[in-house]
Amino acid sequence: MSNYHIKSFEEYFQVYRKSIENPKVFWEEIAEEHFTWRKKWHNVLSWDFTKPEVKWFEGAQLNITENCLDRHLSTRGDKTAILFEPNDPNASAEHISYKQLHERVCKFANVLKSKGIQKGDRVCIYLPMIPELAVSVLACARIGAVHSVVFAGFSATALSTRINDCDAKMVITSDGSYRGAKTIDLKGIVDDALEDCPGVDTVLVAKRIESDINMKTGRDYWLQPLLDDAYGDCVIEIMDAEDPLFILYTSGSTGMPKGMLHTTAGYMVYSAYTFKNVFDYRENDVYWCTADIGWITGHSYIVYGPLANGATTVMYEGVPSYPDFGRFWEIVEKHKVNQFYTAPTAIRALAKHGTELVEKHDLSSLKVLGTVGEPINEEAWHWYNENIGKKKSPIVDTWWQTETGGIMITPIPFSTPTKPTYATLPFIGIQPALMDENGKELSNNQVDGRLCIKYPWPSMARTIWGNHQRYKDTYFSAFENMYFTGDGALRDEVGYYRITGRVDDVIIVSGHNLGTAPIEDAINEHQAVAESAIVGFPHDVKGNALYGYVTLKGSGEGRDHDNLRKEINQLITDRIGPIAKLDKIQFTNGLPKTRSGKIMRRILRKIACNEGEQLGDISTLLNPEVVQDIKDNVV
Ligand code: PRX
Repeated sequence: MSNYHIKSFEEYFQVYRKSIENPKVFWEEIAEEHFTWRKKWHNVLSWDFTKPEVKWFEGAQLNITENCLDRHLSTRGDKTAILFEPNDPNASAEHISYKQLHERVCKFANVLKSKGIQKGDRVCIYLPMIPELAVSVLACARIGAVHSVVFAGFSATALSTRINDCDAKMVITSDGSYRGAKTIDLKGIVDDALEDCPGVDTVLVAKRIESDINMKTGRDYWLQPLLDDAYGDCVIEIMDAEDPLFILYTSGSTGMPKGMLHTTAGYMVYSAYTFKNVFDYRENDVYWCTADIGWITGHSYIVYGPLANGATTVMYEGVPSYPDFGRFWEIVEKHKVNQFYTAPTAIRALAKHGTELVEKHDLSSLKVLGTVGEPINEEAWHWYNENIGKKKSPIVDTWWQTETGGIMITPIPFSTPTKPTYATLPFIGIQPALMDENGKELSNNQVDGRLCIKYPWPSMARTIWGNHQRYKDTYFSAFENMYFTGDGALRDEVGYYRITGRVDDVIIVSGHNLGTAPIEDAINEHQAVAESAIVGFPHDVKGNALYGYVTLKGSGEGRDHDNLRKEINQLITDRIGPIAKLDKIQFTNGLPKTRSGKIMRRILRKIACNEGEQLGDISTLLNPEVVQDIKDNVV
C-alpha cells in the first residue's frame, strides 16, 4: 500500500525520502492504487530539461472525468459534489450531488458535441463563479476538448488576445454576472472581444442575471434549451496520458500572456494527491477554496483535486465584502466548512474590518486553513491564526504557480510544525534548490537565492501553447537542468522555505500576477504619452500596488494631470481589466536609463518604495540628472 494519506511528521519524512530516492516507483504506486485507468502506462517518467520534454505515465489511457465523477457514483452518488453559494445571501444554496453533476456534465458534453466540438479543439470559457463554470470545464474534459478559462474580470481586449492565441472555436459565457450589488455585462464584453476573433463560430450563453442582451443569429445560443434537449449520458473520450487537458494564461514579464499547457494523467494524479494531504480531507468534510476557477487555484483545488477525491467542494459566486465583510464567516458557519483556503490579500482586507464580524459566527467546524498566491505577512498570518483558526487550525501556506499545476512547498497539517510566513517544506516528490546569481546551487541552510526545481513532478506544465521556445527560455535557460520559478526564497536553519517574492518584472497585486509590459503598452497608447515604466510598491491590503512613471510627449506643460491619470487608468481597464489599474502615477521629465537604453526599474522601484536614499551609484546612467527630479516629485 502506498502512503496516500500522511499522518505525522515522521511519516512525511519517510514518504518524502521514498519519493526522492525512487520517484518512479513512488508515483507508480500512487497512480495505480488511487485512480481509474483504461490502460496502464509502459513508462512512468521520461524527461529531459534541456529540450525541455517531460512525459508522465506514457502509454496510459484514461479520462479525468471518469475519475472525478463516474467512479464515485456507486459509493457517493448522493453525496454533494459541488455546494454552490450564490451572490445573494438570501438565495438558497444549491447542493449538486455526484449523480446530478455527472448528468449535468454529460448533457453539457453532448451539447458541445452537437455544436461540432471534437477532441483537441480549444474552447474558451468566460463565466462567473456559477455551477456552469465547473460543469463546462468538466464537459470539455469529458470529450477531450481543451478548455481555456479566462477570468471574467479581464477586459474584451485581454479576452480576444487569449481566444486568438489558442485559436478557440467556441466561447462559453453568460448574459452577465453579479459583483456584490452590481451586475456586469459579460456578454457585451464577449461581443466586443469577438469583433477581433474570426475563429470563433459558436457562443453558448448561460442565463444568470436575466438582462436584455444581443444574440447574434447563427453564432449565439442560449444554453438552457440545448441542455434540456441533450441526453443525460455521454461516453468518455479515451485520452492518452499526455493529451492536453487545458490551457491557462499567466502573465510574463514581457510580451503576450503565456498559455501554460497542462496534460491529463500527471496533472490528475498530482492535484488529487496534494489535495488529500495538504488539506487533510476526510470523507464527510466540506471544503471551501475562495479562489475563482479563472485561476489555477480554482482549476486544481476547486474542481479537479477535490472531485478526484470525491470531496464536497464549495463554489462561492460573490465577493468577500457583500453584503458585508462578514460574508465569508457566515458561509463557513452555514455550511460547516472544514477546510478554508484563501489568499493573503483577502485576509488583510477582512482583518481591516476588525473581529466583530468574525465573532458573530460559529467557526468551530474549521480544521485547516490555507493561504496561497503571494507571500503572507506576519501580521496577517497571526490574525488568521488567532481569529479564524483560534490557534487550533494549522495554516498551510502553500507556494505554487500556474506553471506547477499543484502545490509545491507547504506544511502538511497536523504533521509539519508551522512557522509564520514560511511555506516550510517541499511537498512529496518535490526537489527544490536555491541558486546564486552565478548559477551555483546553495546547498547550505540559512541562505537565500533563486528558487528552482531540480526534478520533474507530475503536474508541471509541458509547454507554452504555440511557443515551446519561450517555455524553454523562460523556465529552463536561467539555470542548467533546472526549472526556474521566477521567485526568490530563503531557507532557514532547519531547512524551511520562505518565499520572498518575484525576482522578475511580474508584480503580484491582490494575489494576481501582472506583467509590467502589457500595462506599459496600454499606457503608451495614450496619444500624450512618450514612455512609461511600472513598478510595484507595498500596499497594506493588496500586498503590492502599481506605481507608474509616465513621461509625456513634448513639454507636457499645461496638461491636466488629474484628467490624464483618469484616462490612463481607463486605457488600462479597457486593455487588461480593472485589476491592473495604477494606484499612483507620477509624470516625469524622463526615465533613468542604462547606456544601452534600458529603463532602470531597480531605481524606480526603490523610489516608489521610499528607499530613494539608497540608490547606490547612479553615475553610470545615461541620464543621471532625471533621478533627482523624480525623487523630488514622488506622489
Ligand atoms: O510569486 C509566487 C506567488 O505567486 C506566483 C504564482 O502566481 P500564479 O501563477 O498566479 O499562481 C498563484 C496560485 C498558485 C508565484 O510565483 N505565490 C504563490 N503562492 C505563494 C506565493 N508567494 C509566496 N507564498 C505563497 N504561498
